[in-house]
Amino acid sequence: HSPVNTQTAKAVPTLPDAQTVTAVTHWTDRLFSFRVTRPASLRFRSGEFVMIGLMGDPHPETGKQKPLLRAYSIASPAWDDELEFYSIKVQDGPLTSKLQHIQPGDEIILRPKPVGTLVHDALLPGKRIWFFATGTGFAPFASLLREPETYENYDEVIVTHTCRDVNELEYGRKLIEDLQADEMMQELIGTENLAKIRYYPTTTREESPKMGRITTLLQDGTVFRDLGIDAINVETDRAMVCGSLDFNKDILAILEGFGLEEGANSDPKHFVIEKAFVG
Ligand code: A2P
Repeated sequence: HSPVNTQTAKAVPTLPDAQTVTAVTHWTDRLFSFRVTRPASLRFRSGEFVMIGLMGDPHPETGKQKPLLRAYSIASPAWDDELEFYSIKVQDGPLTSKLQHIQPGDEIILRPKPVGTLVHDALLPGKRIWFFATGTGFAPFASLLREPETYENYDEVIVTHTCRDVNELEYGRKLIEDLQADEMMQELIGTENLAKIRYYPTTTREESPKMGRITTLLQDGTVFRDLGIDAINVETDRAMVCGSLDFNKDILAILEGFGLEEGANSDPKHFVIEKAFVG
């Protein structure tokens, strides 16, 4: 009679660092979001990212499988008991070609080492915070928009999201709409705090109420006129940026043009930038 052997025999083999998928939402044929269980030990700051993935195909000769991991911003806030992610589907992408087929009950790998620059600690105090996103770069802001500290720190939260087509805005649009209508959120963040959100979506390839790249709309002053606010100013404005490499480079130049400087965890300043991750 050996309890140790009994346990070993019954152990279900799982992936290393496995977490279970609890929900999947497909937003377009190119975009989906999903939620997974959160390990009790995982601590992170809203806006950070982790490595997640699946086991790769078995090696043709040895049959060995290696984990296929990519960096993903955590789209849920630090207080949530699950983790949410927002992803592109790349048909020939090594990870997302498989990841797009996950279902509730499936397992994914989650390496519990959150890191990232889009955190409140990396910014000096200010009055307004700008979240500049393109495409799936909205993910860290989905976390930060549900983070009470965002509203404790600022009087106004301006969220810009630029996508090619209207349906690519839906995840962000619905998140903000739900956030402002959700009773638990109203209690957690405060109705008057949720009213601080100014949402400014734009599209570049499909007709919508506001067309154009946010970079152009900042440079020609359209954004400030549309929102009825003063232009970006180093005394009042702070920013977080998440998009493609080119987008990040262009926004960096624009923000520096307004006199803002890039900060870091160890050296807080006026704005921070992170690359939107793709599979
Ligand atoms: P555009 O259609 O003019 O390229 P993607 O789907 O390629 O990741 O792009 C997401 C959105 O980001 C698109 O609307 C795209 O506009 C916009 N975008 C891409 N590069 C830049 C940039 N350098 N500055 C501003 N917007 C950009």
